[in-house]
Amino acid sequence: MPLSRRGSGTLTTPGGQHLAIHTRTQDDETLPHATKRTMADHLRRLETLFTLTPQRLRMITHAFRETLDLGLEKKEQVVPMIPTFVFGWPTGQEKGDYLAIDLGGTNLRVCLVHLQGQGKFEVTQSKYRLTEEQKQDEGQKLFDFCAESLKTFIDSNSGEDGILNIEPGQNLPLGFTFSYPCRQDSIDHGVLIRWTKGFGAPNTEGHNVAEMFQKSLDKFELPVTLTALINDTTGTLIASHYVHPDTRIACIFGTGCNAAYMEHVKDVPKIKDLGIDGDLDMAINCEWGAFDSFEHEHLPRTKYDIIIDESSNKPAEQAFEKLISGRYLGEIMRLVICELIDDGILFLGQNTYKVEVPNALDTALVSLMESDPTDELLMIIGIMSHFFALETTLAERQFLRAIARLIGRRAARLSACGIGAIVGKMGYLESGCNVGCDGSLYNKYPGFAGRIQEGLVDIYGEKARNIYTHHAEDGSGVGSAIIAAMTKARKDAGVYVHL
Ligand code: GLC
Repeated sequence: MPLSRRGSGTLTTPGGQHLAIHTRTQDDETLPHATKRTMADHLRRLETLFTLTPQRLRMITHAFRETLDLGLEKKEQVVPMIPTFVFGWPTGQEKGDYLAIDLGGTNLRVCLVHLQGQGKFEVTQSKYRLTEEQKQDEGQKLFDFCAESLKTFIDSNSGEDGILNIEPGQNLPLGFTFSYPCRQDSIDHGVLIRWTKGFGAPNTEGHNVAEMFQKSLDKFELPVTLTALINDTTGTLIASHYVHPDTRIACIFGTGCNAAYMEHVKDVPKIKDLGIDGDLDMAINCEWGAFDSFEHEHLPRTKYDIIIDESSNKPAEQAFEKLISGRYLGEIMRLVICELIDDGILFLGQNTYKVEVPNALDTALVSLMESDPTDELLMIIGIMSHFFALETTLAERQFLRAIARLIGRRAARLSACGIGAIVGKMGYLESGCNVGCDGSLYNKYPGFAGRIQEGLVDIYGEKARNIYTHHAEDGSGVGSAIIAAMTKARKDAGVYVHL
C-alpha cells in the first residue's frame, strides 16, 4: 500500500521486505500537523459557514413566525402546530398518584408521580435504554415493550412494602408521553404524522398510537386508564408552569428539538369547527423541528448538513431539528473533522479509521470538548485518544474546540429564532416571559442558554432581556401526570368530555 497523504501506510523495500510506516511520535509538538496558519485559514472558512449574523437571524425569525401562523390557520402544514386539547394552565393544586410512560428519543421511562399540590411532587422512576433495533422493529412490538415495562414497574412497586397501592378493581390514570408529531382529535387520541429522531418502526405512521398502545395495555391486563397522550414539550410547558407560574413557552433541546406554548382558541382558525369557546386557551405543540423542511428556503444549510440530511432515514424532513438537536451535532462535527483529515490538515500520519465511522462522535463529547477548562486541553487529549486512538497537538486541540464552539453556537442562535417567533407573535416582548427548557443540550452544552439569550438580543435588541430561559421541570413525567390530573378534573366537571 502506498503512503497515504497523511504519511502512514506500508512500503515494500527493494529487498522485498514490508515496512509499516507510522509518522507519529510521542512528542506533542513534533507530531506532523498543518501549520497554525493553515488551520487559521480553515477556521475562518468554517466561521463564515457557521456564523449567523443578526440580520440573518431576524430574517429567519420573520419566516418562522409566518410559518407558525400558517400552521394555526390550515391543517396539514409542514409545521403542523398541533392543538393538544390541554386546556389552559394547571392550578398548582393538582394532587394524587399518576403513572406516566415516556417514550422519548433515547430512553423509555416509567414513572409514578405523586402530586402534592402547591407546585410540589415526588417521582419514582425506572429507565430503559432503547436499542436501535427496537426503533426500527414493528410498531406494535414497541408498544408491547412499553406495556411490559409498565407491568414490571407496577409489579415490583406493589405489595406490602411497595409505594403503589392499587385496590382490586381500581385503575390508576396513565399519561402517555409520546414525543413524535401526532395529529390529535382529542386528548387520548393521536395519529402519528411521521417518525422523527431516527425512529422508523413500520406500521405506525398514519395509525392512532393511543389505540395501538391500548391494545398492548389490554394484552398485559394492566390496572390503568390511558387518560392523555402528550408530547414532551406540552408536558414541559405544564410542569414548568406548575412550579414557575410565569412560564409561557417550553422547549426541548435534546435528541430532538421542539416547542409548545399556550394559545387562545380564537386564534386557531383550523379548529373553529369544533365549537370550542374562543376565550379558552389551549396548548399548541408546534413540532417546529420541521421548519423549512422539503423546500429549504430559509435555513443556512452547509454541505455537512446536507450530507446528514441525505444519509438520514428521513431525507428532507426535520430540517430545523437537523441543525440543532443532539442527535446530529456530533455528526456535523465528525464530518468537518473527516474533511480536514482528507485535506491533510488534521492528524497527519495517523490511522484515522475510528473517527471515519458514521456517528462515531457523540454530541456529549462535543460538549465536553467545548467545556475543557484546562490550558493544555487535556479533556480533548483524553477524548481523542480514548475514543479514536488519535494523538493531537495543542494547535489541533484548539482548532477542535473552536469547531465545537461554532456548531454549538449556531444551534443556540437558530433556537433563538424559534423562541423569538413565538415571543413576537404572542406579544411577550413587552410583558416579558419565562421559557422552560429541557433536554441534554440545554442542560449540558456549555453556554447554550447564554447563546440563546444573545441570539434573542440580536433579534430584538435590549428588550429581549425580558425573556428568560430556565431549566424546566421534568415534563415527560411530572407534566404528563399533571395533564392526566387536569384532564380527569375537566371531564369530571363535564367540560368537553368528548375531547
Ligand atoms: C422531535 C419530535 C417532537 C419532540 C422533540 C423533542 O422533534 O418530533 O415531538 O417534542 O423531538 O423530543
